[in-house]
Order: sequence, then C-alpha cells, then structure tokens
Amino acid sequence: SKKICIAIDGHSSTGKSTVAKQLAKKFNYIYVDTGAMYRAVTFFAMKNKCFNENNLNESCLGSKLDEIHIEFKQENSSRLGEVYLNGENVEAFIRSMEVSNKVSQVAKLEEVRKKLVEIQQQMGKKKGIVMDGRDIGTVVFPDAELKLFMTASAHIRAKRRFNEIKINQPEVSFDEVLANVKERDEIDSNRRHSPLKMADDAIKIDNSNLSEDEQLKKIVQLVQEKI
Ligand code: C5P
Repeated sequence: SKKICIAIDGHSSTGKSTVAKQLAKKFNYIYVDTGAMYRAVTFFAMKNKCFNENNLNESCLGSKLDEIHIEFKQENSSRLGEVYLNGENVEAFIRSMEVSNKVSQVAKLEEVRKKLVEIQQQMGKKKGIVMDGRDIGTVVFPDAELKLFMTASAHIRAKRRFNEIKINQPEVSFDEVLANVKERDEIDSNRRHSPLKMADDAIKIDNSNLSEDEQLKKIVQLVQEKI
C-alpha cells in the first residue's frame, strides 16, 4: 500500500491528537503535534519575558525568533515524538493553563507561523505522516490525500479537557477550561494569517455523540480507502 499524508484540523480539544496517535500506531506513520510547536514557542516567550501579564510584546518575540530551535525526538521505540525547545524536552511545561491562555496570541504572528510551517513541511516530505493542528489541510499540506476536520460542541469539548486537566492541575475549574476553549477558537478562527477553517476537500467529523471506538473505526475506513 502507498504512504499518504493525513491532515487533521479542527477546534480545540476535539480529540485530534488522540485520533492522530491511534492512526500513527495502526499504520506505522509518524505523528506530529503542531500545537505542541506553537506551545513551545509560547513557553519560550514566557521564559524570555516577552509577556506582560497576558499581553504579548510582539517585537520582543520577533527579535528572538532566530534563537528558537524546535524539533521532535522519538522517545524509546515509539513513533510518537516529544517536542524539544533548544535541546530541552518541554512536554511537561507546555500543557499548562498558563500556556493555553497565551498560545493563540503567539500563533497569530505571521513570522512564527512561517518558521513553524517550514519545519512541518520538511517533516512531511516523505509522506507516511499524520499531522494535527489548525491549518494543516489549508496551508501546510494543501495536497494531503486525506483531510479531516474535527469538531464537537464547546461544552462537551471543555468537559473532556477538564477531566484530563484536573489530574495534574486540580486548581483549574470547569468554567475556566470552557472559557479557554471558546477563546482560543475565537482567536484562531478570526486571525488574519492562516485562520482555522475547514478545507473545501476535508471530511467533517462531529464527535459530540461518537465514542472513541466508533470514531476510530470510521476514520480507519477513510484511510483504507486512500492507501
Ligand atoms: O492543538 P493545540 O490545542 O495544542 O494548539 C494550541 C494552539 O496553537 C491553538 O489554539 C492555536 O492557537 C495554535 N495552533 C495553530 N496552528 C496549528 C496548531 C496549533 O495556530 N497548526
């Protein structure tokens, strides 16, 4: 069978990465979490004091972009890479509410997107890749053989995300998670550069009422039709 490129876009907390990882495992593809790259740049901006409270100083980050080196390294034998910022594994730092509350401001910047999209396109050259994000089917891989666009009601998404977050961050409330999910979608959908929108040739998956198993079955079928 032939190796294809699978692009998974959609709203925040729709389970894109869960599906992407399942597919990568099943088809022995490389998985790339592009949200982790925007989160890593946000973490860098925080460490370099480019934020004043929640406000990003764009020229501060802009002047330091050349100092940012982002890569994925495979942990043990799995195909699932973890994100490294200037040689340091930052997975443990980038999923916090603090980063979630700031990331969409960083992701708005054209220069940031340009830098990360280039790395993403490089990683996808050999196909056999599943990448999730917001602009994969529209900008990064407009020629992807399979494009999915995932969505679900905001309430359901926040609930799923809250259940995940409360394990490590018990102080975070459901309302805070719901507000963050809505705010990110709003900023991501309305930004000037590469806004979140469904590609014309993407297949929409609303998983509000789908179990993980049902969803996976349906998507595996879609992949099999292409390979
Ligand atoms: O996928 P995740 O929710 O971790 O992404 C975090 C944020 O990164 C998104 O809310 C969005 O602002 C940004 N992002 C993006 N383009 C991508 C992936 C993520 O703008 N391809």
